[in-house]
Amino acid sequence: MTALRREDFGEDFTWGVAHAAYQVEGAWDADGKGPSIWDTFTHGGGRVSDRTTGDVACEFYDRYQDDLSLVRDLGFGAQRFSISWPRVLPTGTGRVNRAGLDFYSRLVDACLERGVEPWVTLYHWDLPEALHQRGGWASRDVVDWFGEYTGVVADALGDRVTRWMVFNEPSSFLLAGYLTGVHAPGVRSLNKFMAATHHVNLAQARGAQVLRDRVPGAEVGTTHIFTPPDVAGDSPRHRRAARAFEALVNRVHLEPSLGLGYPTDDAPLLKRIDRYRRDGDDQAVLVDWDFLGVQYYQRLAVHALPVPGLGFLPWPRRDHKRYDITAMGWEVNPRGLHEVLHQFHAYGKVPKLYVTENGAAYPDEVVDGRVHDPRRIAYYEAHLAQVLKAKQEGVPVHGYFCWSYCDNFEWAAGLRPRFGLVHVDYATQARLVKDSGHWFSALLGGELAPPG
Ligand code: FCB
Repeated sequence: MTALRREDFGEDFTWGVAHAAYQVEGAWDADGKGPSIWDTFTHGGGRVSDRTTGDVACEFYDRYQDDLSLVRDLGFGAQRFSISWPRVLPTGTGRVNRAGLDFYSRLVDACLERGVEPWVTLYHWDLPEALHQRGGWASRDVVDWFGEYTGVVADALGDRVTRWMVFNEPSSFLLAGYLTGVHAPGVRSLNKFMAATHHVNLAQARGAQVLRDRVPGAEVGTTHIFTPPDVAGDSPRHRRAARAFEALVNRVHLEPSLGLGYPTDDAPLLKRIDRYRRDGDDQAVLVDWDFLGVQYYQRLAVHALPVPGLGFLPWPRRDHKRYDITAMGWEVNPRGLHEVLHQFHAYGKVPKLYVTENGAAYPDEVVDGRVHDPRRIAYYEAHLAQVLKAKQEGVPVHGYFCWSYCDNFEWAAGLRPRFGLVHVDYATQARLVKDSGHWFSALLGGELAPPG
């Protein structure tokens, strides 16, 4: 492989890092913040494999100044972060918590002072618990609640923030939160999942509209995970199963917003959404996106199986002979990123794409004050090569965000998986730049090229 060079990506290519509020901030009940569904889940309502919580996480709430300096020194020009809804509106609607809003205002300023552009995600999975008690995403009222929340954030930050993402991976938080129950709020209900799927699509459009109305010049996008299926066998049955998987996991929130409706031909199960649809909804879910965020981690094998309603099951292949497998059990398959970039582009409806998340967890260890993580370097090198290839083939990909700047709380997997370019010692909160962080710094012309 020829060495990557920053200039090959073009001068206006955005290089960033991404994180979510709950995964890094800690300070779960500080300064008037209300509880979120993830607080309830980690405090005993649900299952986190190592029984950790995000109560403290990386203490980003208190350490953001130093962390942002390090982000800059690593050579990145953009920081993607999410807003915690219950930090801003402790019960989800009504009373605004000034202290919470001020935190994000200071965070935006701290980014700008360092020449790091803030990219704001409105919702990265931490619904106010009070709204869950009122039905959460399964209640149609959530569209208004979300619109109100978006207005509060837009009014507070819109004078300084241009790039906005409405949601982070809606299919992930609905499949895991409302269908399989492995994420907060831990609901397992096909009906609630269907209702929530539709309400999220309405809220997605409402949020985008509020941003347009309140923030002149805003660039409005959202992010989706695309997980390409590997068809298990060369038979129509398996191909049908793979299409159903794609419809349910990859397409169900994107296509309605583009005016393509729900992909019910490929996933007949989605016809159940009809009972939650009202006149005018097909229009109400439309969004004129400025950009889409593409998130990619792995491919999954999809097998046709007699699972009621679904007709398939996906699972990771874990073929250690052919692929590197990360600490999450995810297959490293960089060509999948190239494929999904082309898939997004093929819709022909969105002018710009950004890879808003991509990265890998490995069992890193600190040895003599260093973290040698050659597998992560190889991961980034190979995925960036695929981004470049897609770009050179004409896909309008304008940026790339690593997941993640530092190790953080990985949802139901807890603190054990380490995704960072920077190691976090959770006992002391010390930060240590891993070899992969130094590698990025060298690529980007940052100040932290490898020691020695
Ligand atoms: C994505 C999530 C992000 C992080 C990575 C590893 O699906 O958006 O919060 O957990 O996976």
